[in-house]
Amino acid sequence: MTKSPRPIDPEAKPDDRVDNALRPEKLNDLIGQDQVKENLSILIAAARKRGEALDHVLFYGPPGLGKTTLAHVLANEMEVNVKVTAGPVIERAGDLAAILTNLRAGDVLFIDEVHRLGRAVEEVLYPAMEDFALDIIIGKGPSARSIRLKLPRFTIVGATTRLALVTAPLRARFGAVYRLDYYDLNAMQAIVTRAARMLKVEAEKDGIVEMARRARGTPRVALRLLRRVRDFAQVRADGVITKNVAKEALDLLQVDPLGLDDVDRRVLKTIIEKYNGGPVGLNTIAASISEEQDTIMDVVEPYLLQLGFLDRTPQGRVATKSAYEHLGFTYTDQGQQRLL
Ligand SMILES: Nc1ncnc2c1ncn2[C@@H]1O[C@H](COP(=O)(O)OP(=O)(O)OP(=O)(O)O)[C@@H](O)[C@H]1O
Ligand SMILES: [Mg+2]
Repeated sequence: MTKSPRPIDPEAKPDDRVDNALRPEKLNDLIGQDQVKENLSILIAAARKRGEALDHVLFYGPPGLGKTTLAHVLANEMEVNVKVTAGPVIERAGDLAAILTNLRAGDVLFIDEVHRLGRAVEEVLYPAMEDFALDIIIGKGPSARSIRLKLPRFTIVGATTRLALVTAPLRARFGAVYRLDYYDLNAMQAIVTRAARMLKVEAEKDGIVEMARRARGTPRVALRLLRRVRDFAQVRADGVITKNVAKEALDLLQVDPLGLDDVDRRVLKTIIEKYNGGPVGLNTIAASISEEQDTIMDVVEPYLLQLGFLDRTPQGRVATKSAYEHLGFTYTDQGQQRLL
């Protein structure tokens, strides 16, 4: 199934070059996530003081909130190299062994989508993370024997949008696990302001607020909206992003005042109109609107849950009263009664 182009899709990364240029490099450049930042600064300071490699760190949370950025920030702060890979890319145990033996002491190995590592690969990773050792089998048949290779002390930084899919033994080997949450409006404003300055776009305060408010608490979405609004300002106005310019541009992109787009609205409307408010299963919703279940689970749902528009129950998803109101439906608690 092909994905529909979404102006607010936090997973789409067509402008990676721009995003990378805007990527904060040090902990102090990072906006928001104060608690994670404070914890990390202690972790870093302690490791530096002892002259050790950083403990293994796992970041989880919805896409576009800064997991990859944080992995690079950690490496920068520790003044070490970072190697980047991803769960599905490491196909065989040997691939991982090759990566690990090429690391230098202190280096960071960033494994994106760490929940998608294969079983055999994970088993090599366990002793590597715990004992900094690689168990290799030499030879075949009865003469085969296992030897243990010492590895330098390195740091694994893992990232995942699905903590529940990270196996328990793998999760247990991360010394620090941090959840990234949606950014609040203040942080989003600061992120848009910083990006506008770096992209040399002239934007009025009210225009920034409008973009920040509609970016669903997600920096990657904010950067994308800023670029689209900049286009609109240059083509349809005098290049300055005022409140009205931002509003018109975002309305045209069908991003509503709370940051919901067409897909979010279709999910809610399906639950409300076709299933009387729910409960209805995720696979049923996905099939009704021809969207991938993963997209709904990773991108749509977390934000709707955060807004209080959706409830997850054992029987399925339920649209809340606020969802009805936001979309202009009259709320009756019929759907809710079926739950009791
Ligand atoms: N705290 C922040 N302050 C400023 N900009 C940020 C911040 N966090 C992220 N960004 C910007 O948002 C973009 C997306 O962040 P990043 O790629 O790190 O997200 P991610 O969590 O790794 O997403 P995914 O799960 O899709 O891999 C980055 O390019 C960066 O420029
Ligand atoms: Mg990432």
